[in-house]
Amino acid sequence: MKIFITRQIPDKGTNLLKEKGYELTVSPYDRMLTKEELIEYLKKDRYDAVLCLLTDKIDADVFDAAKESGVKIIANYAVGFDNIDLAAAKKRGVLVTNTPGVLTDAVAEHTFALILAIAHRVSEADRFTRGGKFKGWEPMLLLGEGMEKKTLGVLGLGRIGARVAYYAKNGFDMHVLYYDVRRNEEFERKYGAEFRENPDDIFKEADVVSVHVPLLPSTKHMVNAERLGMMKKTAYIVNTSRGPVIDEEALGEALKAGVIKGAALDVFEHEPEINPLLLESENVILTPHIASATKEARDEMATLAAKNIIAALSGGTPSNLVE
Ligand code: GLV
Ligand code: GLV
Repeated sequence: MKIFITRQIPDKGTNLLKEKGYELTVSPYDRMLTKEELIEYLKKDRYDAVLCLLTDKIDADVFDAAKESGVKIIANYAVGFDNIDLAAAKKRGVLVTNTPGVLTDAVAEHTFALILAIAHRVSEADRFTRGGKFKGWEPMLLLGEGMEKKTLGVLGLGRIGARVAYYAKNGFDMHVLYYDVRRNEEFERKYGAEFRENPDDIFKEADVVSVHVPLLPSTKHMVNAERLGMMKKTAYIVNTSRGPVIDEEALGEALKAGVIKGAALDVFEHEPEINPLLLESENVILTPHIASATKEARDEMATLAAKNIIAALSGGTPSNLVE
């Protein structure tokens, strides 16, 4: 069996594939492949599976080349799979898998790192200190906001949103509100959380809105100028899901106009480009799509992607099929 891997991933995954006796071709570049390069690789040889990244756009053209090459499964090394055209996959009978669960803690921890960092002005204070502006303790220097007993609004109650709520409740005794397409009463009982059927209410009531929905046509620009306008002036927005869920231009304008207090973002609407309004703002924290970037999570993502490939190529059903 031959596997094409679009970029070097942790050995934990590649070793599993090698132990099965599979022949691996890893893209030699330390960058993402262009669509043309990916198609060219698939045309040059016969492959049974592709292990790809969230930066690879797997559209109908790529699926055509994959199908012709003999590819039976595309294993995405990510939990999000908005980079893959599932209808095109289905039409050609190619399986698609993702890596849920194993990065939940990493992403939830990063989300909380961002929440505390924006509320306690950590990045701004770091810039201040390095900039030689620290002249000694001051009673009013860089005052932030405490999170104890504040209200967290979770948009999207998947594994990650629920884990963030767990930290909020158990670590900071925060009051948790959530919006999701599905209500979860067990979660409500466990965390004293409250469901809001209309996402607008999350924006109106929360001190921190944390975004955890997948990117779908229905969630694109779910955070727009109108909803930012509903937020408290003292509130923060945090996003570790997918950039296009937030209208980035509207967020930049809202921050500039003081409509909300701050934002902490790990994902962007047009990665790797970042809206200049965000780059200019002091009350914004920006990290480069690294929420799942712990050694533990990335090793397990590599392992899970490899296991999905092995299951598909052994005639079994991969654990993490997405449809
Ligand atoms: C990261 O963004 C992922 O979807 O795994
Ligand atoms: C992703 O793993 C989610 O369910 O939030």
